[in-house]
Amino acid sequence: MTAKVAVRDLRVAYRTQKGRHLALDGADLRIGHGEFVALVGPSGCGKSTLLKVVAGLVERSGGEALIDGRPIDGTPAGVGMLFQNDALLPWRTVHENVRLPLQVAGGDRAEQDARITELLATVGLDGFAGYLPRQLSGGMRKRVALARTLASDPDLFLMDEPFGPLDALTRRRIGAEFLSLWETLGTSVLFVTHDVDEAITLADRVVVMSAAPGRVLDEFPVALDRPRDVRELRFTPAFRDLHDAISDALVAQAHVP
Ligand SMILES: Nc1ncnc2c1ncn2[C@@H]1O[C@H](COP(=O)(O)OP(=O)(O)OP(=O)(O)O)[C@@H](O)[C@H]1O
Ligand SMILES: [Mg+2]
Repeated sequence: MTAKVAVRDLRVAYRTQKGRHLALDGADLRIGHGEFVALVGPSGCGKSTLLKVVAGLVERSGGEALIDGRPIDGTPAGVGMLFQNDALLPWRTVHENVRLPLQVAGGDRAEQDARITELLATVGLDGFAGYLPRQLSGGMRKRVALARTLASDPDLFLMDEPFGPLDALTRRRIGAEFLSLWETLGTSVLFVTHDVDEAITLADRVVVMSAAPGRVLDEFPVALDRPRDVRELRFTPAFRDLHDAISDALVAQAHVP
């Protein structure tokens, strides 16, 4: 079966004032249909670059990047993105922010309204439809951004430290909610994070990248039962062992000159 995402020998060189900057050099990645892959690696190793190539936002200088077996050229259909600094439109209410992807898709306004109401309930924001973004907490704004991403009904989520700016507790809570949502959706996910706990809690497989210029070094299957009880999980020996192994792989990278 073709992979949802297949990246082979990917090379990305950015043009800068000082010449060309090699961000990725020989990166390989495969994401199966319905698979949840977390990507970790040292800062600057090219995680966001890899994700942006899959999102069609950054051009590759060499190698292959395919979705459903087709080369990526521009932003592919069916891809939902959630980034660290996702901005909501400040002048639009929560309800109207979530409408954006539905508006792009066209269709009946009443149907859109019903779908928006349903999505806001899914992310735990019923009752806040009429609020403006500035009237919400950071965690609530993330939920709106998540609802907006869900509105486009993606079959592939590309998430770059999506819950990064939140405090640890809120991040964990939203992460757990996203996990149970994903368990019902079965969407493929590529999830970039610095947080090894978060990576193991969520993913089927944790992929570790090398220091820059990045390539994929190692991967760790997460053989923990689903649905996962996030509150219990991190106290289990299996979780701790995996955490140690991934942390060791990351620390080894930090020492590479
Ligand atoms: N648009 C750009 N132009 C030039 N260089 C860039 C550009 N975007 C990223 N880079 C460089 O490419 C390298 C990889 O950047 P990238 O953002 O992919 O790293 P990252 O792994 O996501 O880092 P972090 O964990 O800090 O988010 C860095 O050295 C960065 O300076
Ligand atoms: Mg990044």
